[in-house]
Amino acid sequence: MNQTVDNLNLVSNMVIKERGKMHHLSTDICHYLYSLADEQNGKNVSLMLNGVPTLIVQNREDAEYVLRRNYANYEKNMVWFKQALGASRFFENGQIWKLHKNLTQPFLNRFDDQQTVKLAIHYAQQGLAQLINGGREGQVTLDDGIFRKMAMAVFLENFFPISLEESGINIDSIAELMEFSSEFSFIPAGTLNTQHRRRLVKLRALRRQVNGQLQIFRDPKYTNPLLERILQAEAEPENQVVLEDELMAFLAAGSESTAATMSWVCYLLACHPEQQEKLYQEVMAHPQPTNWQQLSQMPGLMTFISEALRLYPPIPIIIRQALGKDRIGDDEISEQQNIIISFIGIMRNQNVYQNPAELNLRDDDYSPLNDKESGIGISFSHGPRICGGKDFALVELAGFVYTFLKQASFTLTSDLPPRFYWKSQMVNQGGQPVRVTPRSNERVDIVPSLATP
Ligand code: HEM
Repeated sequence: MNQTVDNLNLVSNMVIKERGKMHHLSTDICHYLYSLADEQNGKNVSLMLNGVPTLIVQNREDAEYVLRRNYANYEKNMVWFKQALGASRFFENGQIWKLHKNLTQPFLNRFDDQQTVKLAIHYAQQGLAQLINGGREGQVTLDDGIFRKMAMAVFLENFFPISLEESGINIDSIAELMEFSSEFSFIPAGTLNTQHRRRLVKLRALRRQVNGQLQIFRDPKYTNPLLERILQAEAEPENQVVLEDELMAFLAAGSESTAATMSWVCYLLACHPEQQEKLYQEVMAHPQPTNWQQLSQMPGLMTFISEALRLYPPIPIIIRQALGKDRIGDDEISEQQNIIISFIGIMRNQNVYQNPAELNLRDDDYSPLNDKESGIGISFSHGPRICGGKDFALVELAGFVYTFLKQASFTLTSDLPPRFYWKSQMVNQGGQPVRVTPRSNERVDIVPSLATP
């Protein structure tokens, strides 16, 4: 249905005003999308964003149409990210995207789930020890950096012959780069003001810094078939492949969304103490899982992860641009129109979910893995550009959450609602208001890095 929103005013390039509340488009977009999900539930919304006609898609069928059935007409529209982070499989389209995808996807498809589970349990223990012991006196929120470190450590040791410690990579710089890039997402190309230009200068300096850190992957001491493949492609200029650019996006994708998910899992656990106890009983009944099959057979655990992804999708939106005219439902789509797929809106559709804002746990015979409407079914996207690391992310998340539940408990330190902040991922600004306490029967040690995983 064509909804032109009359309670929205475009007041400047970067800010939208909604019922007297100002939303900064880039960082504050999640709050706007949650209110849109309430007020225009399940309906698509067309509006002008910075002078560009934009359709916000809030139902699964239309998202599926854009992302899969008529995928050829809807390109990724990430000009700014590409400028900030360089060419990679994330930002490219067409043949160049296929080439980039073929460099890394075979490795993402063939990961060893046993090794991933082992690494995830190990680094979750390390992360927990830091969340418990590293929390400063009086600190009432969780440090997102700890989740990023856990996710990056597992990712690196899975796909590269080097640990996070050895690599010297500063994960905060990568996160900062993603944050910088998202600030530019809604600025049409060629319309920069002075403030944006200053930010761009800073962004370029940051990129040089990260590029410098990634040089270590050129050291023959650390090479492996994945790196050899990228370097081989780089040797032919027409491929437009640069090792550091490819790695930067790969590392960011491989750790940032998983880290954001873990922070929301902790928040959701803290919001639901009774469910937390039930899940604790479930994991205690499954001692020492070593592979995906064993983890995935814990229905409570998998449903809880899926619900965290549904209520707080770590990638809350994806952006496309129409190549040619089209029609989506009742909306005429013009050439170059922007399409924002709102996973927030889609997964709060009251026609699909009963009480969509609530945590919905199911019977033991339900598996979110077989449900295309579940958080797991939707938040990794659909069609040819589906998340390349979905299977890996699920194994890793299951290992992390299993370990967290088994070894610690989570309580809220504040009843205030989340302050959603978008920086390519959706996070709770200032950190999750959660306290982590060790379970009395479990020891949480600071364990050293796994030398030979
Ligand atoms: C909970 C964790 C994750 C979530 C929710 C998630 C979600 C997504 C989504 C929604 C996209 C599509 C973006 C778009 O079309 O604009 C995407 C793309 C991608 N993700 Fe993930 N992701 C997660 C973790 C990971 C991990 C751990 C890896 C790597 C191991 C990964 C690798 C990728 C890659 C390579 C793409 C680009 C696919 C392409 O277009 O070729 N993701 N992810």
